[in-house]
Amino acid sequence: MASSAQPIEVFTAGQRPDLWERSRTVFNGVWPEYNMHGNDTPKYFSALYPKYAHLQVLLYDQNTDSIAGRGRTIPFRWDGTLEDLPAGIDALGLRAIDDPQPPTALSALAAEVAEGQQRRGLSALIIESMSAVARRAGLHPLVAPVRPNWKDRYPVTPIDRYAYWVRSDGLPLDPWLRVHVRLGGTILRTETSSLRIEAPVTDWEQWTEMTFPEDGEYVFPRGLAPLRVRDGVGLYFEPNIWVVHRL
Ligand SMILES: CC(C)(COP(=O)(O)OP(=O)(O)OC[C@H]1O[C@@H](n2cnc3c(N)ncnc32)[C@H](O)[C@@H]1OP(=O)(O)O)[C@@H](O)C(=O)NCCC(=O)NCCS
Repeated sequence: MASSAQPIEVFTAGQRPDLWERSRTVFNGVWPEYNMHGNDTPKYFSALYPKYAHLQVLLYDQNTDSIAGRGRTIPFRWDGTLEDLPAGIDALGLRAIDDPQPPTALSALAAEVAEGQQRRGLSALIIESMSAVARRAGLHPLVAPVRPNWKDRYPVTPIDRYAYWVRSDGLPLDPWLRVHVRLGGTILRTETSSLRIEAPVTDWEQWTEMTFPEDGEYVFPRGLAPLRVRDGVGLYFEPNIWVVHRL
């Protein structure tokens, strides 16, 4: 690619391996600590580079010589039906790395904007760049298991209610989902058990800076859904909203 909107340039990791290496530590602070401990996420996130370097996008800020944003994607086989859509992001990632057949579609895995660059509208550029690499690679459509970024304000609301809340202008209440919809994305369905984070309660206490004194359900800071604690183990499933972008 290498385009365009000055002073932000878009590259793939294949075009700029040096930027990809630099990007590895840029975005840690944008995620809640608990979110970095998915049980299955290391398996598929570690498969992206170098194999799919041409499908990873980087937003480079020339003015500050810094990485402003990153979009990570994974190609997978999908027949385009709801029945064949993976349950959630974990199921998608595991299918993508295990499937011996060639991929047909592209899925977003994560969009990240650096802390100092947020609220400038760069997130739309990440989605547009993902669409561009999908088109170039002949992978159709682009789907996204969207992590709705205001869901932590409504942790006990079911995702299949939250996903369809709209503002008076008809666009989604959730800001990140709104970006997708404004770019032409449509909701396919929601998933309550998309990403599994199951770990000893002591780990959860460290990640959340909370204490969980007894078995039960707990709302915790920045959690999109409650944490279930039982017999010393904390189990959390992150919900997602599947969105499709027809290319
Ligand atoms: C989600 C994320 C990619 C958005 O990137 P961004 O560049 O800050 O967002 P933008 O400036 O493009 O704004 C997108 C929309 O969100 C809104 N928004 C962004 N941050 C907001 C905030 N803190 N409060 C309220 N609204 C906010 C914007 O107003 C805009 O909506 P609008 O155009 O309808 O008004 C970024 O916050 C991020 O990296 N978050 C951490 C990782 C993550 O959760 N990624 C998404 C799941 S993969």
